[in-house]
Amino acid sequence: MAAAIEGGAAERAGARILDGVELAEAIRERLAPRVEAFAGVAGRPPTLGLLLAGDDPGSEIYVRNKIRQSDALGIATDLRRLPATAPFRDALAIVEEFNAADAVDGILVQSPLPPGMGADAEARIFDAISPAKDVDGFSPVSAGRLVQNRTGLVPCTPAGVMALLDHAGIEISGRRAVVIGRSDIVGKPMALLLLHRHATVTICHSRTADLPRVAAAADILVAAIGRPALVTRDFVKPGATVIDVGINTLTERQQVVAIFGPGSRKLAAFERRGRVLAGDVHPDAAEVAGAITPVPGGVGPLTIAQLLSNTVRAAEERRRAGAG
Ligand code: GUN
Repeated sequence: MAAAIEGGAAERAGARILDGVELAEAIRERLAPRVEAFAGVAGRPPTLGLLLAGDDPGSEIYVRNKIRQSDALGIATDLRRLPATAPFRDALAIVEEFNAADAVDGILVQSPLPPGMGADAEARIFDAISPAKDVDGFSPVSAGRLVQNRTGLVPCTPAGVMALLDHAGIEISGRRAVVIGRSDIVGKPMALLLLHRHATVTICHSRTADLPRVAAAADILVAAIGRPALVTRDFVKPGATVIDVGINTLTERQQVVAIFGPGSRKLAAFERRGRVLAGDVHPDAAEVAGAITPVPGGVGPLTIAQLLSNTVRAAEERRRAGAG
């Protein structure tokens, strides 16, 4: 694994590295026969409808990767694009078309939607997605089911984190977990999944008093705030498992030097490419942690693997229910 990691927290690791690339590959391998079996009985592949509205560069990359990995596994995709100037009703019309289509099993509306669609556009579009096809797990029905620990489609990034913890044999029950970040997409569902596995969970956010002290009580610390290297070694209890959900792009050399140091591989990578990725966790945290995820190569690959998994599951369950 070390060769795939260009520094970051992992470069200084005394900690065990939790490899998301390898696990994502194993998840895809386990899905392949289910995709084949579904296609055999349904006469069509599991199918994911995607809506990409606007021209956010990050979203372009995410959607391209989702399509590429779906293709590789034999999942069909139907990508619809809208310009940043499109009205909200155009986005809604596409979701409604996907909802009604028998041959669409999963629906993914890439976030963020363009600001011109209105401040409440995302909530309204997630309201409109049929829960049976909600492979992102962002609809209020999916969120409510998760609160009540009932089966349903679970948001992909937190589901990926749970898969990684389980794969690594990290005990969850009875342990203290601290989640930094309270987004609907990661922080809240992450906290609920840990709670349902009997962790004692604290959710922290921008107004949490004495954040390092609260974080340092954690046996499992999840950083999902989108602030590069915020979580330094003083946030980490010795031996804790540290999960870095952050994917931040650094474009300032000075920032790369400040975080990773003048002789680091990250800086060398920055000199070649003019940008590098940084997580929410500072490299010095790896000197204290017992186990840690790298960025890239930790949680990121698992998010798409879980999306593929949710799509296959939605296809199977719709078929069992007599649809599709
Ligand atoms: N934008 C950033 N992450 C995600 C995600 O997991 N799903 C969707 N739909 N949009 C995102």
